[in-house]
Formats: sequence, C-alpha cells, structure tokens
Amino acid sequence: MQMAEHWTAQSEAFNFVAFAKDKAYRELNRALIAKAFARLPSPFFHVDVASGTGLVPQEVCALCQEQDKRGTIIGIDPDRFALESARKHTHPGPNCVVEFVKGVAQDMARLLAGKIPRAGVDYTSIHDAIHEIKREDDKRGVLATMASILNPGGILTLNSAFTTAALEESAMVWGRLKAKAFAILGGKRDRQMAAIKIHTPEEYRQMIVETGLEVIHEAKLLMKMSHPAMEALARYPAFIEGVFGDMVGKEQVPLEAKSRALLEALKILGSAEPSRVCYEVMAQRGI
Ligand SMILES: C[S@@+](CC[C@H](N)C(=O)[O-])C[C@H]1O[C@@H](n2cnc3c(N)ncnc32)[C@H](O)[C@@H]1O
Repeated sequence: MQMAEHWTAQSEAFNFVAFAKDKAYRELNRALIAKAFARLPSPFFHVDVASGTGLVPQEVCALCQEQDKRGTIIGIDPDRFALESARKHTHPGPNCVVEFVKGVAQDMARLLAGKIPRAGVDYTSIHDAIHEIKREDDKRGVLATMASILNPGGILTLNSAFTTAALEESAMVWGRLKAKAFAILGGKRDRQMAAIKIHTPEEYRQMIVETGLEVIHEAKLLMKMSHPAMEALARYPAFIEGVFGDMVGKEQVPLEAKSRALLEALKILGSAEPSRVCYEVMAQRGI
C-alpha cells in the first residue's frame, strides 16, 4: 500500500463545494463528460479518480437519466469531507449505481480489487486533479493504471486548469492577486524555493500517449472566472496553499489567514474576473 501523500484536507469552512457549483466550471466539465458518454455502452462501468465533491459522477448520472443509459460509477478520493459531500449530494437515480471509495489514486489497484469487472471498465476520468498528485512518477503511475483497467475501446478523460497554459490569457490579473495577497500578509517570496513542476499540456498529452492510449480529442478552453467563482477558489485549500507555495514561512501562517488575505485581495482588486485556460484530453484504448 502507498503511503498517503500530504494534501490539505477540506473542511466545512474550506472546501471545493462552492467552486464545483460554478456554472462555467460545470459546463466545461459536462461538455467533456458528454463527449465520452456518447461512446459508452449501456450498461457501462466508470471509475472517476479524485472525485472530490462528486461533480463527475453527478454529471454522468444526469446523462444516464437524460439518455436512458445504465451505469455503475466508482469515485475515488482521499478527502473525508469531500467524500461525505459527494455521498450526500450525488443522486444516482434509477439507472445508476454509485459508490465512493476513500483513498489516494496511487492506491487505485488495491482500492478497486474485486469491485470492477475482470474484463475492464469502459471509462476512467480524472478531472481537475492530476496536478494535485505531486510526484512525477505518481502522476504517470496513476495514468498508467487508469489506462490499464480500460477494456478495449474504453475511454479516458483528463482536464486541468493548472498547466503552463492556465494563466496565458490573464497573467497580469493573477499576478496582481498573488502580489496583493502576499502584501496583506507581509509575506516574502522565496526565490530559492524549487517551484513545483507545472506541466505543459503537451507533457500531459505525452504521459497519456505513453500509457498506450490514443488521443482522440484535445482542446484548450477559456474558462471565465466570475467574482463568486474567485471567492470560492479562495476557500479551496489546495488552491490557497498553491498561491502561497513559495512564501517564506508559509507553514507558520494558518490556512484561515491565507484565505482571508486572498479574499481581501479580491475585494481590493474589485471587478477582476480573469480567465483560466483549461486543457482537456480524451483518449481511447485500441480495440
Ligand atoms: C480540485 S478537486 C477536483 C474534484 C473533482 N474531480 C471535480 O472536478 O470537481 C481535486 C481533488 O483531488 C483530490 N486529490 C488530491 N490528491 C489526490 C490523490 N493523490 N489521489 C486522489 N485524489 C486526490 C482532492 O482530495 C480533491 O478532492
């Protein structure tokens, strides 16, 4: 079994619930899921990795109702609060069976043992989360496992708004937000600190190609961040810790204070509604 890696736990006060409800974020995810869904048989078997508060299973269940397909969906996530929220707010309806399993993606093979068909599954997904898996070999290992459990013709979808392309359209606004939040905390940047590796979209594509799957769709999409969406992000632990990742003494500053600084910075910057570029890819296992 893998040692659980460090991640900042969600809680009642700091979580992904509000951002996962954002219209632009939902629509972007829904559109990619719908592309995969169109290729799924009925019944199908789907594994959603880093399910969080349940967005992907919720959208798949909704599509099953609309299009009268049947499916079984397993969502995996290590976060207790996110899982509780997902279990509470995912309504499978008569066509679906949904189970949420607690654990890290690196441990997927063990977590799924005895739960998935021996012949493989029809769909695996990892939305807005690959960048949260910190180690490079873990990212590759997770994608390799996701590919290996697909049956011939099976589909994988991945998206990430944390690639080198993410800030392409609004770099100045994101830069100002960070600078203002640092200033509010009196924080200094640690220029020596080894930055966490941010991948290019092409690198993610290559990681998927290396699993043996064929890329059948990819796009870079612009996601408009409304002010409420920005406030919601400022309450999501992984985003908060990411912004302050290179601040000297970051460990001594509580999450609450960092979140407050971001919210105050947003207020000062007023109507700043930057865009984020989201990279998405869909791949298929050969028949
Ligand atoms: C930004 S949320 C996205 C959740 C969901 N896929 C969505 O799009 O709404 C990222 C999720 O990745 C999860 N995560 C972080 N590290 C993980 C790991 N090693 N294995 C599985 N999930 C992980 C977090 O707990 C969090 O729920």
